[in-house]
Amino acid sequence: MEEIGEDYLVAAHPRPFEGERGHLKLLLQARRDFLEVWRQSDYAGQNSQISILGRQIIVVNAPESVKQVMAANHENYERKTPQMRRALEFLLGDGLFISDGETWQHRRPLVSNIVHKNRLPVFGKVMESVTAEMALRWSHLEPGATVNALYEMAALTAEIISRTAFGNDLGADSAKEVIEGFSGYQKLIDSINIGYFVGFDDGLPIWRTPKLKASVARIHKVIDRVVDQHLAGKGDQDAMIDIMVRRTRRNPNLKLDKEAMRNEAATIFMAGHETTAATLTWAWYLISSAPWAEEKMLEEIARVCGDRAPTVEDVPQLDYCRAVIEETLRLYPPVPILGRQAREADKLGDIDVQPASLVIVVPWLLHRSPDLWEEPNRFMPERFLDRRPTPYTYVPFAAGPRICAGLQFGLTESILCLATLAQRFKVRVADGFHASPVCRLTLRPAGGLPVTITPR
Ligand code: HEM
Repeated sequence: MEEIGEDYLVAAHPRPFEGERGHLKLLLQARRDFLEVWRQSDYAGQNSQISILGRQIIVVNAPESVKQVMAANHENYERKTPQMRRALEFLLGDGLFISDGETWQHRRPLVSNIVHKNRLPVFGKVMESVTAEMALRWSHLEPGATVNALYEMAALTAEIISRTAFGNDLGADSAKEVIEGFSGYQKLIDSINIGYFVGFDDGLPIWRTPKLKASVARIHKVIDRVVDQHLAGKGDQDAMIDIMVRRTRRNPNLKLDKEAMRNEAATIFMAGHETTAATLTWAWYLISSAPWAEEKMLEEIARVCGDRAPTVEDVPQLDYCRAVIEETLRLYPPVPILGRQAREADKLGDIDVQPASLVIVVPWLLHRSPDLWEEPNRFMPERFLDRRPTPYTYVPFAAGPRICAGLQFGLTESILCLATLAQRFKVRVADGFHASPVCRLTLRPAGGLPVTITPR
């Protein structure tokens, strides 16, 4: 469902669900596509709850309760859901994305430091050169050639994170092994853990099929080799893994053995590329359907950069490009569900929270609530230009102590890649294609996004 006018765009979104929602049916529907299940009333800026087979699920959509879960009482909600932990533990072990308690407290400062914004000048150079390589490849396409933007952006961001995390000397074959291993793993895992709904508070381990084991083995083999190289002092010194190795040597209290290093490296790789690829894909969809916004973006790029390619140093001046990315993240948050498991009883608004229940903040709902946003389905980058959203109404990177560790990296990368490619190419959604958002682990257009590429 989208509406395109000369100077406005109502961006694609599924029609709200109508009719009766049986709870078991809801679970199965959510397993297929989490966006299909919401009724118009679920978008209201208030909390709601349901119970499935006796399990309490609370949907938190009132900003003051979002604050309570993410920040004010975060300790009670620090733990990820059993579905998330079980789905990823085979691959990530005790990696930051799914750890909690002491492990999380120990590792969070380390990982935050590794991807910190102070290192952006170095990581930004990798972003610039990988994007320039893609621009060169695009310049060899026939003008008007059709490509799938989702795959192109996935290749771009995977290359950026693999070179920044593992080092510039990783090699194309190893990069391919990791990238294919991750996408294979994602396809094989289930987003719902039935064990949790039949009485196991921590869910049940997922079935480690031969295919799943093969994907994990591919990824672990490459990362283990890279960690060994860096431990032997032979890796790229600017790589995130190298920083991790040096930090660990300096501070033995971190107690990071080789397996823990692999887990954190795999976490950074996973967290750091799908999300940015989805952001860029949706940004192309929106810009392509809103020429008035594209014009403002191009004017800004020309004013700030002239004819040269944008650099990481230009990013703070690219305000309109930033607003386009922020509005993209509002309409299509790559992580559309932030799930937590309550440790202890609590009260969210007038809902009594039971221990071990699921508490979910759904950026998809929060960002499109008519109570919190003016014309919520409309693409309007301007809403991010001179003001900030009301606190806890906009959480594409989560909020509070568990906020995305790579926020500045991801934002900078999205702005820089978008500006660099938009300066040189006109990207248009292929004729007759209508994007429809679907959600499993990340939010993406069903079937990807076919676009035509024409040099400017
Ligand atoms: C536009 C791009 C990105 C978006 C929208 C995004 C979003 C998020 C969100 C929503 C979370 C929290 C998930 C939850 O609470 O359940 C998260 C966590 C995380 N992200 Fe990002 N992310 C992005 C890019 C990156 C990048 C580039 C990196 C690394 C270089 C990264 C590293 C991480 C890590 C390590 C965590 C776990 C933090 C913790 O649990 O303490 N992210 N991200």
